[in-house]
Amino acid sequence: MQLKKKTVIFDLDGVICFTDKFHYQAWKALADRLGIYFDEVINNRLRGVSRMASLDIILEQSDKEYTQEEKNAFAAEKNDTYRELLKNMNPADLTDEVRDTLVELRSRGYKLTIGSSSKNTKFILEQIGLGDFFDAIADGTDITHSKPDPEVFLISAQKIGVAPGDCVVVEDAKSGIQAAKAAGMTALALLGDAKDCGLEDYNLTTFSDLLNILP
Ligand code: BG6
Ligand code: MG
Repeated sequence: MQLKKKTVIFDLDGVICFTDKFHYQAWKALADRLGIYFDEVINNRLRGVSRMASLDIILEQSDKEYTQEEKNAFAAEKNDTYRELLKNMNPADLTDEVRDTLVELRSRGYKLTIGSSSKNTKFILEQIGLGDFFDAIADGTDITHSKPDPEVFLISAQKIGVAPGDCVVVEDAKSGIQAAKAAGMTALALLGDAKDCGLEDYNLTTFSDLLNILP
């Protein structure tokens, strides 16, 4: 398959870099402190989902009712742990494959943007040396509705003035594939629960497979 599109919108966590393990560790620390069962299978359901919606999924395992105030404090606690872990990230956490593919796509004339639910997007991009790289960033600080709502991808396209139909989205989350389709964009699945979810337009075998379908 070859696509005639102008813009590639990348999800961040699980696509550009692998923060999944840090999300897991930070949620696990909170769940353990609260005596709530949490494992990698539940963690997989948090892909692409906002911080508060992720917390609600974790609290499904508890029979206690928590107030909104308590939930806000739990989310803040998780984020503090997560940010501490992110401080250890550096440009070596960006793989050569991802870096080289991004540089080659840019030299082929594509606009490259980010569409992520994470409010830590800019911090993570700085850590891995991509702080100034993308043509636009739409993230958790821009949106009121998280994936599978299309908002973050529509804002990302709007920021560079490109029509949704001219955009390709790269996602590792099924919720992200749903969001891309709802935005009227082409959805490329890369690993995670996006792969073979049945809604994707194409499954990428690896990140650099982008170079085969984007001429
Ligand atoms: C997404 C992750 O990119 O961002 C989710 O896949 C995460 O797991 C969400 O919950 C929100 O992230 P943050 O950094 O704002 O807590
Ligand atoms: Mg992701």
